Amino acid sequence: MKNQTIIRVVLLILFITAISMLHYLTPLHLHYLHDIFQRLYYLPVILSAIWFGLRGGLACSLAVSVVYAPHILFQWGGQLTLELEKYLEIVLYNIVGGVTGLLAQRERERSIELQKTADGLEISYKKLQEQSEQILAIEENLRRAEKLSTLGEMAAVLAHEIRNPLGSIRGTAEILRDDYKPGDPKYEFIDIQIRETERLNRVVEDFLRMARPLPTDMARCRVQAELETVAQLVANDARERRVSLILDSPADDLVVKGDGDKLRQAFLNIVINSLQATPEGGRLAISSTLSRTDDAHGMCEIRFCDTGAGIDAETLPRIFEPFYTTKADGTGLGLAITRKIIEGHGGSLHVESTVGHGTTILVKLPALQAR
Ligand SMILES: Nc1ncnc2c1ncn2[C@@H]1O[C@H](COP(=O)(O)OP(=O)(O)OP(=O)(O)O)[C@@H](O)[C@H]1O
Ligand SMILES: [Mg+2]
Repeated sequence: MKNQTIIRVVLLILFITAISMLHYLTPLHLHYLHDIFQRLYYLPVILSAIWFGLRGGLACSLAVSVVYAPHILFQWGGQLTLELEKYLEIVLYNIVGGVTGLLAQRERERSIELQKTADGLEISYKKLQEQSEQILAIEENLRRAEKLSTLGEMAAVLAHEIRNPLGSIRGTAEILRDDYKPGDPKYEFIDIQIRETERLNRVVEDFLRMARPLPTDMARCRVQAELETVAQLVANDARERRVSLILDSPADDLVVKGDGDKLRQAFLNIVINSLQATPEGGRLAISSTLSRTDDAHGMCEIRFCDTGAGIDAETLPRIFEPFYTTKADGTGLGLAITRKIIEGHGGSLHVESTVGHGTTILVKLPALQAR
């Protein structure tokens, strides 16, 4: 900005000097040329007014008057009656400089005002947009909470009504199975019966987990220790699926306040999903970092990065819905439970996925100071 001003001032000075030289050096009998040079002075005056406003316009017209006056006085004789037109021209330089400067200045002030209004409007628009996004998010949370609380009530009733008879069915089926030898078709049927009962029992258990108030046993938990346990639990499964499981060691010892069992369950659900999404072998990398925030201890960010099938755009917004599943034998409760656990710990879950490349699940949990 400063440089631009300097360049403009230098330009004006050069301009005025050049026109004045033409005046002073051109013989007086070429009066028609002098008439042209006289009008040329308007150019720097108007330019200066546009660039620098009222003060710029007047300063330039005065400068022009000062350099032009000696030419009238000493070269043309300076007689008022003979050179009246030249004196009037000097008056006109100043009027033009002043008026143009004033107009340019007003225009500039108005455009600054307009810019300010536009900026203000933009800020208000952004605020409105943020607020409406917040409202949408709250609405979504409310809807989810409503769904989950109805589910919770149902789960409690279902658990009572289904679990006990299930236990009896399984028990009697096991007794019946003992009457047959493996390989006998009836043995196989009863085996299927037992397996399916177990599956049904798992569904009920999952229901129950959703219904139970969360979290209960809050204590200091080392995130890495929980992740190591999860990695051990799934090591076999990963090997069978030819998925290399990589658990990074974090730079900081990450500690959160939480219920270790529940957190482990949440991590396990995520890891199992990743393994299931990687049927043809691949990689699952688990890493955790501490991201500093303004509040006391920052957030633990735990990333589960798989090279599985990925999630398409239609499925992505639904994966946390209870009972939403794309698997033939899935219950669709894994991620709903996971989200409930993580949010019960004051954390949040985020997903990024590219079909054919893989999925990253990011878990954020409020960190405690490591000791
Ligand atoms: N890592 C992942 N890669 C690809 N798809 C995933 C991944 N994680 C979740 N999904 C998708 O999200 C859906 C919901 O997952 P969720 O864990 O809630 O249920 P599920 O795995 O289908 O069943 P459950 O976990 O109850 O046995 C899955 O069916 C799957 O389509
Ligand atoms: Mg699952």
